[in-house]
Amino acid sequence: MNKSTKKNKRALIVGISGQDGSYLAELLLRKNYKVHGIVRRSSSLNTPRLDHIYSNALIRNPHFDLDYGDLTDTNSIYKILEKVQPDEVYNLGAQSHVRISFDLPEYTGDVTGIGPLRVLEAIKTLANHTGKKIKFYQASSSELFGKVAQVPQNEETPFYPRSPYGCAKLYAYWITKNYRESYGLFACNGILFNHESPRRGETFVTRKITRGVARIMKGIESEIYLGNLDAKRDWGFAGDYVEAMWLMLQQDNPEDYVIATGEAHSVREFLEETFRLAGIEIISNGKKEVEEEYTRKDNGNVVVKIDPRYFRPAEVDLLLGESQKAKLKLGWKPKVYFKELVKMMLEQDVHELKRELYGKNNGN
Ligand code: NAP
Ligand code: GDD
Repeated sequence: MNKSTKKNKRALIVGISGQDGSYLAELLLRKNYKVHGIVRRSSSLNTPRLDHIYSNALIRNPHFDLDYGDLTDTNSIYKILEKVQPDEVYNLGAQSHVRISFDLPEYTGDVTGIGPLRVLEAIKTLANHTGKKIKFYQASSSELFGKVAQVPQNEETPFYPRSPYGCAKLYAYWITKNYRESYGLFACNGILFNHESPRRGETFVTRKITRGVARIMKGIESEIYLGNLDAKRDWGFAGDYVEAMWLMLQQDNPEDYVIATGEAHSVREFLEETFRLAGIEIISNGKKEVEEEYTRKDNGNVVVKIDPRYFRPAEVDLLLGESQKAKLKLGWKPKVYFKELVKMMLEQDVHELKRELYGKNNGN
């Protein structure tokens, strides 16, 4: 753990318990920040991605702290901000599942759209009261591009969101820009394309596939149910992307940046690459939509079926980013690309499954 000095910067991460929150917390601790996080109250534990940071077996990390709060509760955000007096606030909190946003449009609007406004207002109010200057990062998304106006997409590409989630992120993007222009806040939008990792939530397609294939390998499950296999995404590694978030807040001027790998692959490619790495040969029956199935070549068992529940009322067919600005101004570029990402995720899922099945000591 780091030695405390007076010069330690303080960061507050909203959404610290999520995939990106955990990687960002690790990065900032390595950079000698004091890291505070806001977590939601939940009836079951929602901090497993943070347990290794919070404490080792005996010692609680003195540079890391969590507070209960919620993006729907302005007062909780202000009180935490006032207590922590951070130099930098990273808003990663969101109802972040695009498919689920169609089921929960109002809630998604409140958390994902208005939530960032509540954080910005709290920052502005604290600055008015105390003069404290706080830099702000907003987790904007390539979902803003939606039905894309051009390929690839960069900072100049017009937005056309295709889901309640995308629409909520659109509001959050503009209100961040508006507070920068209206009140001179140091506020940046990181327009991040899909980024994944072994810590990705289990219902996003990449993790669903790597976790599902690991379970098929071990004979725990026989098949995976998926939706649209032909959508294409620009998939990067979350560990690389949190570095870009931090870099944005270290610049002289606040700006918005696209962060992407510049490669697009389909869900189908992700699926086939995962099975290939698992050593299971599969073949599609070549039919369309719900009629399609993949079977194993060795025993003919069906391993992938299509479930229309996973289709979306409006789909984003292709996202492909161009992050030249980030390369030039931030000196950022990705280190991990598609094949390495799939391998990393599958290996970790196999490892975790072995631990689950055979206990801690036989996990390798
Ligand atoms: P994630 O794993 O779903 O994490 C979301 C975080 O937000 C979790 O910590 C969650 O808490 C928290 N949260 C949800 N509702 C909240 C509320 N009402 N109040 C406070 N916190 C709340 O998402 P992620 O993949 O790390 O992504 C981080 C951010 O980047 C999100 O805003 C996402 O929309 C955006 N983004 C992600 C990607 C990507 O590909 N990963 C790309 C572009 C943008 P619980 O743990 O309690 O649920
Ligand atoms: N989740 C899911 N589950 N998606 C599936 C499935 C399935 O069973 N089958 C096919 N897909 C397709 C979806 O239709 C979509 O086209 C693609 O896989 C990716 O879906 P997700 O992994 O859920 O991610 P997303 O692209 O919708 O959203 C993620 O990336 C955004 C950035 O572009 C999320 O992390 C968002 O929060 C983020 O903003």
